[in-house]
Amino acid sequence: DWTMSAFREAAIARVQEQVGEGRVICGLSGGVDSSVVAVLLHEAIGDQLTCVFVDTGLMRAGEADEVVSLFRDHYNIPLVHVDAGPLFLGKLDGVSDPETKRKIIGATFIDVFEAEAKKIGGADFLAQGTLYPDVIESVSFSGGPSVTIKSHHNVGGLPERMNMKLVEPLRELFKDEVRALGRALGLPDAFVGRHPFPGPGLAIRVPGEITPEKVDILRKADRIYLEEIRAAGLYDEIWQAFAVLLPVRTVGVMGDERTYDYVCALRAVTSTDGMTADYFPFSHDFLGRTATRIINEVKGINRVVYDVTSKPPGTIEWE
Ligand code: XMP
Repeated sequence: DWTMSAFREAAIARVQEQVGEGRVICGLSGGVDSSVVAVLLHEAIGDQLTCVFVDTGLMRAGEADEVVSLFRDHYNIPLVHVDAGPLFLGKLDGVSDPETKRKIIGATFIDVFEAEAKKIGGADFLAQGTLYPDVIESVSFSGGPSVTIKSHHNVGGLPERMNMKLVEPLRELFKDEVRALGRALGLPDAFVGRHPFPGPGLAIRVPGEITPEKVDILRKADRIYLEEIRAAGLYDEIWQAFAVLLPVRTVGVMGDERTYDYVCALRAVTSTDGMTADYFPFSHDFLGRTATRIINEVKGINRVVYDVTSKPPGTIEWE
């Protein structure tokens, strides 16, 4: 793609100019955006870059391994792997407000990045995969002031105290452009085509208080759901699909036992930029099959519902 190879050259030059001789830390989340940033920066500044993959304990099943092996084995980009699950889950203990979760997670990411920066003798910049919709996603209600719906962006609103400057080479791009850039940089198609995954991870897919047990239940349901989507050949038709573990328990019956377990909601949407979205029209067959598998295979869930809300008025995530 001609436009993207031109963009790629321009972006590399811009990063070189901004960074000079400085050292850069790039936080890898496992998503497409941060991976594209990492590969672009590696081309631009080589070993002035240190990539840090923070395992927040809030990743999907298998996610951490996929990213680590892509970067280490395929790209040979040095990668620091920080196992910060207990740290994140500890800080989120007892917290149920969605924006508070984002702020805690954003601050904890910065703590981890700063600690890693110290280990390499200091870093001047932090690179992030902020996209254009992240920059502009605030909604003006007619006549009213501009209201921020969620403090996404990107690791959840950076604390003022951070002493590294930001490098955000994707700030002008939409998701489809980031994917084209990723291809221009040689990222494998399967990786570039991955569904977006939010920085705060599964924390915002467990509405209410997060416990390691709930995250574990959610991870299992989510894996089955995505397996079924892939098996049905639907992955690439969908912008994003994921399970949500509701903080509600309902009564059910399994064999001749009464159960009292959590409800799992399934979400899948189509979209071109994440700013508006329609729910995906799965067949009843697909939904029934997936619900049966989740209930049979995941201890702790005894009811599955499908979310048919579009955006607006819903958002894609539940928090
Ligand atoms: P919403 O839920 O606002 O999501 O309709 C739009 C897109 O943004 C992602 N999202 C986030 N990404 N940090 C992120 O990096 C966040 O806090 C966050 N919240 C939502 C969401 O997955 C969807 O792709």
